[in-house]
Amino acid sequence: ATITVQPAKARPISDLLLGIFFEDINYAADGGLYAELVQNRDFEYTPDDNKNWNSTYSWKLKGGNSTFLVDSANPVHINNRHYAVLQTSTPGAALINSGFDGIPVKKGEKYDLSLFAKQAGGKVLVRLTDKEGKVVAQTTVNVSSNKWQTVKATLTATADAADAQLELQPLTAGTLSLDMISLFPQKTFKDRKNGLRADLAQTIADIHPRFIRFPGGCVAHGDGLANIYRWKNTIGPLEARKPQRNIWGYHQSTGLGYFEYFQYCEDIGAVPLPVIAAGVPCQNSSTGGAGQQGGVPVSEMEQYIQDICDLVEYANGDVNTTWGKKRAEAGHPKPFNLKYIGIGNEDLITDIFEERFTMIFQALKQKHPEITVIGTVGPFFEGTDYTEGWDVARKLKVPMVDEHYYQSPGWFINNQDFYDKYDRSASKVYLGEYAAHLPGRPNNLETALAEAIYLTSIERNGDVVHMASYAPLLAKEGHTQWNPDLIYFNNTTVKPTVGYYVQQLYGKNAGDEYLPGSISLSSNQDAAKKRVAVSVVRDSKSKDVIVKMVNLLPVAVNAAIDLGDISTADVEAVKTVMQGQPGALDVKPVVSGCKVSGKFSDELPAYSFTVIRIRTK
Ligand code: AHR
Repeated sequence: ATITVQPAKARPISDLLLGIFFEDINYAADGGLYAELVQNRDFEYTPDDNKNWNSTYSWKLKGGNSTFLVDSANPVHINNRHYAVLQTSTPGAALINSGFDGIPVKKGEKYDLSLFAKQAGGKVLVRLTDKEGKVVAQTTVNVSSNKWQTVKATLTATADAADAQLELQPLTAGTLSLDMISLFPQKTFKDRKNGLRADLAQTIADIHPRFIRFPGGCVAHGDGLANIYRWKNTIGPLEARKPQRNIWGYHQSTGLGYFEYFQYCEDIGAVPLPVIAAGVPCQNSSTGGAGQQGGVPVSEMEQYIQDICDLVEYANGDVNTTWGKKRAEAGHPKPFNLKYIGIGNEDLITDIFEERFTMIFQALKQKHPEITVIGTVGPFFEGTDYTEGWDVARKLKVPMVDEHYYQSPGWFINNQDFYDKYDRSASKVYLGEYAAHLPGRPNNLETALAEAIYLTSIERNGDVVHMASYAPLLAKEGHTQWNPDLIYFNNTTVKPTVGYYVQQLYGKNAGDEYLPGSISLSSNQDAAKKRVAVSVVRDSKSKDVIVKMVNLLPVAVNAAIDLGDISTADVEAVKTVMQGQPGALDVKPVVSGCKVSGKFSDELPAYSFTVIRIRTK
């Protein structure tokens, strides 16, 4: 292949191109990124979350002479009605929590315990025990009052345990009430309280995402009006937050809420991109009762819109504003600098949707012109198109729209011209969800290279596509509702996929200028031509030129690269290559040096992705 770059034709492209899509699917939040180790800490699980669950889920009483029940007569907070009551005649029994598939602890590490308790003159032995019953950490806490009080302590692990359990053993006869029983590793990402699991949060940060979309996906709009994700339920003291049924069949504690999402964005230098339901739940799903299709009643839309405006104030308002003050109280007086809000998530484009979306869009445009609203054009399936969604976007002149598609690798290979054809004067695009899907849904080199090849076309169209995020991001082994995902994990190990490394190579090698060029292949077969693709970008800060080359052919291809009048600053460049068999699941990037000049050549191995980063003058 001969690749001729034409630097004179350089054009600006989005500097926010590669980001991440975070949704609480596959136990991504509770039991995942959120570092809380106690499951059902607030006794709020219900059969509504999952028909086999109730408020005692993941708790049990061990030992005799005690009873354990869940009461709701005198809660810590009205939003957290349930709490445990232990009645002890002779001490010995313990209330046990099994965590999310066990509680992982590491020798020498410290763990922060906190709980609400009532019992005048009470004492409680708190222990972490491993599978064999060996104590790996312990402390005793005192409870002084018959009114709810917070109790805090630190436990230090004396041994490793992959699946310990938490035991709370009353040492005083009588009635002990407990709620919000929480255990966090002290080492969270950036040492934040109520923070994130450090290894997972770091793996995500290593993608170098320029933005984070949250909290979904379908979680954002929920299934039914009562299940719409309401950001106000997810901020403030943990005991005052409203837990919620997760559309994916489990429970959201909302401990990882809007404050924590904003904080994480800031911590990793990513732009926050919250997505709010467009006043309609998933596919305008039934509102129950008469079973009608529905959205938020029009009479309630004023308040619904006010809630969205309040979110802008929460993120950006100064500390004297009502909502800015709440952000400051949570420990962040400085604004979070919110610039984008997504309204809607691949909704069915009905009149019900359009009416509500229009109301929200117009109100935000008027009250917050500084915010770029990203609309939705519904889901895309083979053989359908986005016509109705785009009609609404065109009519309202929505600045950007969210497109979603999950397709076969062949689709991605054959549709590299998807955005070449887009009207440059229409709404910009946020490709909010995409992934290559094969039967059996693996994340392997074939899917990853199909995504890599498609991303060359996204960079080429970086004037239209402003943002793109692979979906979904996280999946906990044994709790996965959706495959493939980008990062699999269990309690102790993080397992990035082949697709993860493609995202990371794009994230680490982003540019803000696209350098067009031509590519000619000795083969004149169209099918072969589509399987080799190149994208050249320049990062104006470092002045580095980055050449990305994908070869999805079963044979190596020799690439002769002509950089035109670009002067290299160094003969040594950094070359990163991923290669292997299409079905391989464990391909990692290999970094080496390579010699470059204005004209140089390189061999692209069969089934490979090569990135060459060149310093220029
Ligand atoms: O990414 C998984 C799901 O796919 C999202 O929740 C939804 O938006 C889409 O259908």
